[in-house]
Amino acid sequence: MLLTPAKGLRPDGAGATVPLFLIPDALDTAMPEFDAVVRALWRGRSPYDGFVAERFKPDAQGWNSEHPFLADTLRRVRPGLVIEIGVWKGGSTIHMASILRDLGIDGVVLAVDTWLGSWEHWQQDEWFPSLLCQNGYPSMYYTFLANVVAAGTQGHVLPLPQDSANAAFVVLYRGLRPQVVHIDAGHDYEAVMADLKRWWPLLPPGGVLIADDYDPDGKVWPTVRDAVDDFLRETPHRDFEALPYKARFTKV
Ligand SMILES: C[S@@+](CC[C@H](N)C(=O)[O-])C[C@H]1O[C@@H](n2cnc3c(N)ncnc32)[C@H](O)[C@@H]1O
Repeated sequence: MLLTPAKGLRPDGAGATVPLFLIPDALDTAMPEFDAVVRALWRGRSPYDGFVAERFKPDAQGWNSEHPFLADTLRRVRPGLVIEIGVWKGGSTIHMASILRDLGIDGVVLAVDTWLGSWEHWQQDEWFPSLLCQNGYPSMYYTFLANVVAAGTQGHVLPLPQDSANAAFVVLYRGLRPQVVHIDAGHDYEAVMADLKRWWPLLPPGGVLIADDYDPDGKVWPTVRDAVDDFLRETPHRDFEALPYKARFTKV
């Protein structure tokens, strides 16, 4: 079931009750997941309506986008809703959507990003051109959307163009509940810790969180490892696993 009332939960774990007027009134669990998310977020109008993919050049560059934890977790959990925080051009989003499609799962990957880049994309000359700035403002969202269509995954991907903090409240208040969360947005300690704290409460028991760029040796992004380790020291969980370079763990 994708849509459920959201009483007693906040993405930051503070436990306040969500005002009922913010929750979609008709929770139709018989509706396909894609249509239910379109109704919950865009009041029924798909983001693909009127999108002419041929106007934009696909560009499939990404990082760690086909890590074995992604496919393995989706095969085990068979989720109706996956949320990815940190999407870039859609590498891992499209990979997960292809898995859902190939397994015949009626599921959606909700792709959360500002499509404005992280600080490292602005800091490194190598990545900056990918932002496709127009009059100073990035336009890579359309590269992402074109990539989704080029891969034939538009039936399993929906974008949520918000920063992680706002997106968590949108997801909560619009009654969406993921069974799998993949975090790959800001990589500094505070960003990772904040993302863990705001997305973990939205998972049900048995839900799986996957954290990108976790390296137990701390050679790749030690800030990610430190945030994940500190979070898990204080958070009941089971089945922690790490493989270069992602970690995953399950909510109890
Ligand atoms: C490393 S890239 C994601 C890579 C992608 N998962 C892949 O497989 O190629 C990080 C992305 O996180 C996004 N991002 C960074 N901070 C964010 C935030 N606070 N909220 C939403 N997106 C954020 C950036 O815009 C960027 O697109």
